[in-house]
Amino acid sequence: MAVPGSDQPKNDQPNPSPSPDATQPAPQSAVDATKVDATKYVGTPAVGTSKAAASAGLSSSGPSNTDIDRRRRRLVWVGVTAFLTAWFLAFFRFFLPRTLFEPNSVFKIGYPSEFALGVDTKFQQKYRIWVDRSPDRVFVIYARCTHLGCTPDWKPSENKFKCPCHGSGYDSEGINFEGPAPRPMDRAHVELAPDGQIIVDTSRLYQWPKGQPSKFNDPGAFLTGV
Ligand code: FES
Repeated sequence: MAVPGSDQPKNDQPNPSPSPDATQPAPQSAVDATKVDATKYVGTPAVGTSKAAASAGLSSSGPSNTDIDRRRRRLVWVGVTAFLTAWFLAFFRFFLPRTLFEPNSVFKIGYPSEFALGVDTKFQQKYRIWVDRSPDRVFVIYARCTHLGCTPDWKPSENKFKCPCHGSGYDSEGINFEGPAPRPMDRAHVELAPDGQIIVDTSRLYQWPKGQPSKFNDPGAFLTGV
């Protein structure tokens, strides 16, 4: 019997047994429905996109978006770094002197006694000259064809210079006799140094222009008595 004011429950009906639905896992179809709802989109996704694949129930494959983003960021940084490096190099290059380093035009070639009669080609590669000794003098020919500036070849067997470009021919003293060359090859300034060696200056050339007096006998165009 219930005592007034006690804490006894007023509902005498037995507690209903728990519903079987509350303890059993939801059917798989319900789970799938939940997943589909989680990826529901508004509108029609573009064909070929991950959203379209998801809305069609297809799982995506390949690298995740995070990997792709990381690669894109790395590519962007590589591009930016390369651009800035090139820009800074060009910037600093602007302040460097633009000097053209050319071989010295004044140089020594040794003693006159070192050159025998005829043409000596040992300085052709280094200084673009030939040293020529005739019976009465030593002079230096500047090895440049007077047609268009090629370097002729010395042909000892034919005792002549032959230009490979257009066929001009010069005798052993550089006097033109065939081909399109308009005049003999130039001769460089020569003088003796205090130590007795020959000094050559290829910035001072002696010419024999066509139809004009020759400069080949001017002082400095040759050495004599050596
Ligand atoms: S450059 Fe020598 S013949 Fe033309």
